[in-house]
Amino acid sequence: MDWTIQLIVNIILSFGGFLATLRAIPGMGHLFIRANLCGVDMSKRQSKKIPEAMGIVCGCIYLITIFIFIPIPFGTYIVFSQEGFPHEKGMGSATNGTGCSASILAASAGAFVELLAALLSICCMLLLGFADDVLELKWRHKLLLPTVASLPLLMVYFVTFNLTIIIVPKPLRWLLGFSLNLGPLYYVYMGMLAVFCTNAINILAGVNGLEVGQSVVIGLSLMLHNLLELGGPLRDTHLFSLYLLLPFLGVSLALLYHNWYPSRAFVGDTYCYFAGMTFAVIGILGHFSKTMLLFFLPQIANFLYSVPQLFHLVPCPRHRLPKYDCETDLLHMSSTSFQLEALPWPGRLFLRVCSTLGLVRLATSEGEGGITTCNNLTIINLLLKFSGPMHERSVTIALLAFQVLCSGVAFVVRYPLASLFYDV
Ligand code: UD1
Ligand code: MG
Repeated sequence: MDWTIQLIVNIILSFGGFLATLRAIPGMGHLFIRANLCGVDMSKRQSKKIPEAMGIVCGCIYLITIFIFIPIPFGTYIVFSQEGFPHEKGMGSATNGTGCSASILAASAGAFVELLAALLSICCMLLLGFADDVLELKWRHKLLLPTVASLPLLMVYFVTFNLTIIIVPKPLRWLLGFSLNLGPLYYVYMGMLAVFCTNAINILAGVNGLEVGQSVVIGLSLMLHNLLELGGPLRDTHLFSLYLLLPFLGVSLALLYHNWYPSRAFVGDTYCYFAGMTFAVIGILGHFSKTMLLFFLPQIANFLYSVPQLFHLVPCPRHRLPKYDCETDLLHMSSTSFQLEALPWPGRLFLRVCSTLGLVRLATSEGEGGITTCNNLTIINLLLKFSGPMHERSVTIALLAFQVLCSGVAFVVRYPLASLFYDV
């Protein structure tokens, strides 16, 4: 079957996924509340119970959508091909530019195995994310879960592709040569990519619409990148990425509708892990993990800013989301208090440097052994530091606008500036 028809079928199924998720979330909300899978919106006057972990509904509809889609690129080839299934061919190979080669490669066994491994990893992450929402796991477990869930994917990468060579950027070639074989380190990098993508979304959270909104912007950016590359030599790889991405965007947009201010559903860690793993899988199997990371610039900035609290160099409260003022209905920076001198020296150094640069607000009370108050280290609080108190909806819009701006920067780095670093 022609790849354009496959893509159209995928778009139709993704739209079906969107409609199904749009209906399922409000329809199932009461079941989640009955099972005590709910949370209180901390930035609202009334403390109504809101169903949590709605990512599980999204994830299940996503998997069903892909399961229905699988026979489209693979099934027709098995049924109608005279030569049988082309077991020896892989998805990552380049096409020769003819329409026929695309359908042959898309139907190859390598691609089929890669797709199943991708679904297995996403499915594992969904299960582990749901376990996290139900059991409220500790942070060290949150780091371990994506590593475990990425194992099936890494195994398939090892068996089918096992390409661990990276092209060295031009400015470093005098030192490292043209290419570098990272060997097992490449697998460590891919495992860490899954850990980063999942947790980076989960820690840029706490205002209505932000978790799923940022995932939608990243997903749309990846989709645009895939579309721009469809005319190039790696068409099949980018098609494969689109097949996974479009249903993801379908279910995520429906969730965004319900999670937008004022939220009627919370996404839970389930969704953050599901979204992060989907991006990691797409980046790894599409062989564009560096480009994918470019679309994570706000998440990288938030992670780096958060490092002192994540590694307990500065005390980290259970929730770092902004503080709600019910009088004005505005969000303020949230903060944490401690004795500055009691902190480990890297924590003190970080806070002093950032305070000098105007990146944290430190206030120490008078007297011997005074208590220092510092804003929680997230870019949400940093935005509020610069802007002053803001309405919750405006905070989400401002952060999503920043995400879009960063995607624009990423495209400039990936396309016009790429020739500075690589032979394009
Ligand atoms: C992460 C963040 C935490 C942040 C939380 C908010 C780190 C290390 N952890 O923790 O700082 O407070 O996400 O999701 O950065 N909630 C709202 N409004 C929202 C979304 C969530 O009030 O728009 C509250 C609800 O009470 C909800 C709870 O946050 O029940 C969910 O928190 P959870 O996802 O369990 O927090 P973590 O992922 O552990
Ligand atoms: Mg969370």
